[in-house]
Amino acid sequence: MATRGGFSSKFGFIAAAAGSAVGLGNLWGFPFEVADGGGAAFVLIYLVCCFVLCFPVMVTEIAIGRKTGLNPVGAFKSLGYKNWNIIGKLGVLSGVLILSYYNVVAGWAFGYFLELVQGRFEIGSEFGTFTANFTKVGLYAILFMFATAFIVSKGIASGIEKAAKILMPSLIILILMLVIYAVTLEHATEGLQFYLIPDFSKINLEVVYDALGQAFFSLSLGMGALITYGSYVSKNDNIISSAALITLADIGIAFIAGLMMFPFVAYLLNGNMDQIPSGAGLIFVTLPGVFETLGPNLGVIIGAAFFLLLSFAALTSTVSLLEVPVSYLVDEHQIRRNRAVWLVALGIFLVGIPSLLANGGSDFFSQFITYFGAEKAVDFMSFLGHLANDTFLPLGGLMIVSFAAYIWKKEQLYNEIETGNSNFKGSFIEKYIGFAITYICPVILGMIFILTVLNRFF
Ligand code: PHE
Repeated sequence: MATRGGFSSKFGFIAAAAGSAVGLGNLWGFPFEVADGGGAAFVLIYLVCCFVLCFPVMVTEIAIGRKTGLNPVGAFKSLGYKNWNIIGKLGVLSGVLILSYYNVVAGWAFGYFLELVQGRFEIGSEFGTFTANFTKVGLYAILFMFATAFIVSKGIASGIEKAAKILMPSLIILILMLVIYAVTLEHATEGLQFYLIPDFSKINLEVVYDALGQAFFSLSLGMGALITYGSYVSKNDNIISSAALITLADIGIAFIAGLMMFPFVAYLLNGNMDQIPSGAGLIFVTLPGVFETLGPNLGVIIGAAFFLLLSFAALTSTVSLLEVPVSYLVDEHQIRRNRAVWLVALGIFLVGIPSLLANGGSDFFSQFITYFGAEKAVDFMSFLGHLANDTFLPLGGLMIVSFAAYIWKKEQLYNEIETGNSNFKGSFIEKYIGFAITYICPVILGMIFILTVLNRFF
C-alpha cells in the first residue's frame, strides 16, 4: 500500500479534480442544455444545483476517499461495511461504461482538430459521414485512449497531476483567447443577450431535471471518481475549500464556454437566436461553419484552437475515468499499476466498439433499442448514456450520501472534514452539509433516479 502515491500539493489535487470535472460536459453539454433550456434562466438553476445539491456530495466523496485512502470498492469495505462496497462496484462499472463512449466523442474532437488544422471546414457538413467512418473514428479513439492510458500509467503526482497542471492552464488560456475573439464578432450582443438575460417562462420541471443531471455529471459525481482522487489527498488539505474551488472552476469554465459559444452561433445566424440548432450538432456541425466564415487563415487558427481546447478538456476527464477501475485493480487485486492501466484501457476500448459503430457505422448499433421493441430509435451510445450517466450516477450519488448520513454516521464524516480544517465543526457549512446529505440530496437524487428510469426505460 505504501506505493500508492498521492498528489504533491493541494493545488495539484484541485487541478486534477477540476480537470476531471471540466470536460465535454462543460464545453459540449452545457451550452446546448442552455440553448434548449431557455438561456440564462437555465444558467441560474444550474448554479443553484451545483451548490445546493452537488457540493455536499462532492465533499462527502472526497472525505470518504481521504479517510480510507482507497478505491471506491475498498473504501466501503475498509470502513467496515462490506456490503456497501456495491456502491463502489457500481461506480467502477459506471466509469468503465462512461469512458467507453466518452472516449469515442473525445476522439471525434481530436479528429476535428486534425481536420481543421488542414483547413477542412467541410467536416461540419460531413459530420454524419465522419462518425460513420469506423476506421477513422476508431483510429482517433485508439489515439485518445492511448494518451489517457499513458498519463495514468505514470501515476498520480507525475502522471495525472502533472498532466492537469499543464493542460488546465493551457485550456484556460485558449478559452479566454477564443472568448475575446468571439465577443468582437458581429451580432455578438444578440448571442450574449440570449445567453445572459433570463427568460423565466422557459422554466419547467424538465429544465430543472436537465440542470440537475447536467450539474451532477459535470462535477464528476456519483461514481467514485472523487472518492478515488480523494484517496490521494493529504491529511493537511482543507476538503471544504478544495471542493469549493473545484466547483467554482467547473462552473466558471462552463460559463465562459457559453460566452464563446453564443457569440459564435449568433454570428453565423445573423443574430437570429431563435434558429439556434439543438443537440450535439451545435459543436460538431455548426461551429465548423462559423470557423469557415472567418476565412482560411484565421478560421484555421480559431477552429483548431477550439478543438484542441475540447480535446484537452476531455483528456483530463478520461484520465479520471480510467483511474477509477485502475485503482480498484491495484488496491483490491494487487495488480501492478502499469499492467492494470494497459489492460483496463484495452478492455474499455473494446467495450467502446459498439459506441464507435453507433453513429452510422452499423445499423444495428445506430438504432439499437428499436431492435428491442422500442418505437423511437436510440443509438447504442445514447443508450449507454441513459444507463450509466443518467441512471447509475444519480443512483450512486444517492447511495453515497445515504451511506454517509445513515450508516457511517455524520460524526465520522465531520471528523474527516475537520482534519485539515479546524474551523469546520460548529460552522454553518457543517450544518448545511449535514442537512443536505440527510434530506435534500437523497430526496432529489432519488427523484431523479426514479424519473429517469420511468422516462428512459418504460
Ligand atoms: N465531468 C466530466 C465532464 O464534464 C465527465 C466525467 C463524469 C468525468 C464522471 C469523470 C466522472 O465532461
